[in-house]
Amino acid sequence: EQINKGKYEHYMQKEIHEQPQSLTTTMRGRLIRGGSCKAKSVLLGGLKDHLKTIRRSRRIVFIGCGTSYNAALAARPILEELSGIPVTMEIASDLLDRQGPIYREDTTVFVSQSGETADTLLALEYALENGALCVGITNTVGSAIARNTHCGVHINAGCEIGVASTKAYTSQIVVMAMLALAIGDDTISSQTRREAIIDGLFDLPGKVKEVLKLDEEMKDLAKLLIAEQSLLVFGRGYNYATALEGALKVKEVSLMHSEGILAGEMKHGPLALVDETLPIVVIATRDACFSKQQSVIQQLHARKGRLIVMCTKGDAESVCVGGSCRVIEVPQVEDCLQPVINIVPLQLLAYHLTVLRGYNVDQPRNLAKSVTTQ
Ligand code: AGP
Repeated sequence: EQINKGKYEHYMQKEIHEQPQSLTTTMRGRLIRGGSCKAKSVLLGGLKDHLKTIRRSRRIVFIGCGTSYNAALAARPILEELSGIPVTMEIASDLLDRQGPIYREDTTVFVSQSGETADTLLALEYALENGALCVGITNTVGSAIARNTHCGVHINAGCEIGVASTKAYTSQIVVMAMLALAIGDDTISSQTRREAIIDGLFDLPGKVKEVLKLDEEMKDLAKLLIAEQSLLVFGRGYNYATALEGALKVKEVSLMHSEGILAGEMKHGPLALVDETLPIVVIATRDACFSKQQSVIQQLHARKGRLIVMCTKGDAESVCVGGSCRVIEVPQVEDCLQPVINIVPLQLLAYHLTVLRGYNVDQPRNLAKSVTTQ
């Protein structure tokens, strides 16, 4: 059943709409609800013998390519917050090009849907040679990365066929949020925060179901953008990764140039691009960066920017102060889980843009599902 399209026209479409179920499967048996004298917690069987070593490591290094890298980037802030350990990011090919330093005291985390990506696999060999603890986060049981790491967590998102990764991305974020919860499990001061995140995880599939109702709205937006040359996506904090991933989805399937931009970098170059014609998605959902994003919106309005603002439900009126804009309203969840919600409308937009522009959704030109050569 996983490898037929069912009622859907394309695998990408099916996999986007499957996310409430794939997220449920990812979390199944791993979240402990707690009880009268038992705290809410997370159980990651594949890591339980290594958690002490991970907690003692000097640094956690996330390593991946493409969407898997973006998923790790989305999880980085919560891992830093709950573990108190510095977390650095490595694109696998870049780590190899630089032969960047990896130490015995490092925990390296290899994130890959296929578990077979050549660059990620070579970076794993490099980390093993350098004596680091190697953790695998993959969606493919028995894959090279799953076999060659010391320990790991399966994403359990189910088979992903569309070249554009969608359900694996959201499940990867959830696995890494659970990893952060497991590492931080022995810290009493963050217990309330951890319990709020666990409650948020239980609610997440329902919230994803809600955000999928934006399908028609995203189709309308795609109709509006069909002939554009380029689309920018601005995000920051938890949603910097959403900007990168949203832009990657748009470019890889709809073949429209798209760039994810860290909003904090706006004045250091990208602002020069802004005019009345270039469409810009600004992610401005409620979190600690919200007021900074409001100010970004005002500055873009001052340059007559053509804005599409993604905001929290109920914020539509207040978020576009200083000019007019199109709004995408999404349900609010715990800040570190918000990237799981926010990527969904952008996945839908990329999907509809591709169909409307007449391109191959599941097999974009020049791309392979798994990049097994360098
Ligand atoms: C995702 O939409 C892309 N097709 C691509 O970036 C992919 O995520 C990348 O090649 C990494 O693949 P992996 O997760 O299987 O390692």
